[in-house]
Amino acid sequence: MSYPIERVRSDFPILARQVNGHPLAYLDSAASSQKPNVVIDSESDYYRQGYAAVHRGIHTLSAEATGRMEDVRAQAARFINAASVDEIVFVKGTTEGINLVANSYGRHFFQPGDNLIITEMEHHSNIVPWQMIALEKRVEIRVLPLLPDGRLDESRLDALVDSRTRLLAITQVSNVLGTVNPLDRLIARARALAPLVVLVDGAQGIMHQKVDVQALDCDFYVFSGHKIYGPTGIGILYGKKQLLDGMPPWEGGGSMIRTVSLSEGTTFLDAPWRFEAGSPNTAGMMGLGAALSYVEALGIDHIHAYERELMRYALEALQQVPDLILYGPADRAGAIAFNLGKHHAYDVGSFLDQYGIAIRTGHHCAMPLMAYYQVPSMCRASLALYTTREDIDRLVAGLIRVRQLLG
Ligand SMILES: Cc1ncc(COP(=O)(O)O)c(C=O)c1O
Repeated sequence: MSYPIERVRSDFPILARQVNGHPLAYLDSAASSQKPNVVIDSESDYYRQGYAAVHRGIHTLSAEATGRMEDVRAQAARFINAASVDEIVFVKGTTEGINLVANSYGRHFFQPGDNLIITEMEHHSNIVPWQMIALEKRVEIRVLPLLPDGRLDESRLDALVDSRTRLLAITQVSNVLGTVNPLDRLIARARALAPLVVLVDGAQGIMHQKVDVQALDCDFYVFSGHKIYGPTGIGILYGKKQLLDGMPPWEGGGSMIRTVSLSEGTTFLDAPWRFEAGSPNTAGMMGLGAALSYVEALGIDHIHAYERELMRYALEALQQVPDLILYGPADRAGAIAFNLGKHHAYDVGSFLDQYGIAIRTGHHCAMPLMAYYQVPSMCRASLALYTTREDIDRLVAGLIRVRQLLG
């Protein structure tokens, strides 16, 4: 069956926009993806027809909204093949999910002298929370290094893991280079070396390929709704039930308690609710549910095959641009990082914007990766399920033009 790109594009109203007098070529989906009508409508329908505070009401609207929230939790569990719906915690996004694990699991279980492993390609979200807790708990951070081609140096893992290694925190896909990490191999090897827990940052993985957390054998998996065509401000933390059950809450407030007494203190709900303090982003949950349904209806394997072919096309087409420096491996998902000769990424991105071509420039929240390549910044074009060959052709033509203008 051929991929229904025309219909897909018509589902995303923003793609019909003009920017600076040109049709929009949106190549910044790795930063945040655009939203289909079903996601936009699900939020507004909820506010128009079904909105109420969840959990605390016995009235019909509240019960309905609570039911829909729990339906989305079950849907998210199925989407990543979690063993139980109780393994799904609603969070604001990947950043909050990782902070939750660092502040709950890390603060509770790490001991001075322990160590944890991250990689040189991580997004700041999967570095800074660990640095903060490591400082507090006097834990050492060890780093699995990059290779020049943008893959991780797997051969270094054995030397990093020892009996005090408590955690491996690793991204599924590099947000800069598009590298798809061999998680099966890395997780199996790390587990063979020490009884550590594994957190996978799925922010750049969830939208490009089928994710099965049981097959991956990770302990935690985190992703953001806004990168998989859902709303901002909502995401999922998956955690193995046995681990979540043993973790203390990290934020206190309403909706996460069983009893509160001024003299005897507080007892908490079970996981996942004990990690969901306060009034949640229910409109975001409705949108996330609609986004996951949208992706499911199109078929993640179908999307994967389409994007893979497009990536092959893009990497070949970019060869036409003089002085283009490409970073990252040939086999990749989503992101294409590059620089144009000695020109600053900011200048390149600004020029492309004049032609309606939206790319990302800067350090991409991955300063250690920039340091590895000894550049202050890179340009990044990224692909999504609605990207076309025409978008790529426009990028290539735009870059050739920018090269002529900037010299
Ligand atoms: C690999 C990776 N991890 C984490 C994040 C943080 O996601 P969020 O800002 O949605 O919390 C991003 C966002 O760009 C990312 O690409």
